[in-house]
Amino acid sequence: MTMKDRDSTLEERMAARQGAGHGRIRLGAPAVTGTFLVILLLLGPGAVAAQDSEARSVLDGVYSEAQAERGQRAFNTHCGECHITEEFSGESFQNMVGGDPVAQFYNFVRSSMPYENPASLSRRAYLDVMAYILYLNDYPAGDEDLPATVDALSEIYFPEVGDDH
Ligand code: HEC
Repeated sequence: MTMKDRDSTLEERMAARQGAGHGRIRLGAPAVTGTFLVILLLLGPGAVAAQDSEARSVLDGVYSEAQAERGQRAFNTHCGECHITEEFSGESFQNMVGGDPVAQFYNFVRSSMPYENPASLSRRAYLDVMAYILYLNDYPAGDEDLPATVDALSEIYFPEVGDDH
């Protein structure tokens, strides 16, 4: 079983992301992007959070501490029998999910785990487990829980790491 869609290349994923109009900051971006960024910085984080349709990253404080604590309990109850947390944190995990939207990982876990009884937890419990896994990877907590729809989760990306080419 593999997490990744091996058919989609990095280039295709980047193109899809940029095509969707997400103003990702990259080298060589037009100066206007920089100006826009300065304005956002001046307006503060609330201004960024208000833009629901913008892509975010798991570095942007996308879950709450309370949610991660619920997730820890859910993980211990529903996953801990077969998994240790080290499987879902650190370099190898981050390489596995790097560049993917959280929705992809969420859908994988929900549709295949627990191994003998997939999709048997509530959606909220799966989301809580996602929050716990983000916490395990030292991605920062924020004020709000993860959004509860797959559409919204597909707008939140794991950072690209390592050699994904
Ligand atoms: C009864 C044992 C069992 C339970 C409970 C269980 N899993 Fe698994 N999990 C497995 C097995 C076995 C695999 C490997 C499946 C394969 O490769 O075909 C796996 C694979 C995975 C993978 C893929 C890892 C990789 O490197 O490909 C993830 C992610 C995962 N489980 C998350 C969870 C989460 C989150 C929970 C709790 C909601 C959970 N699992 C509960 C047995 C379990």
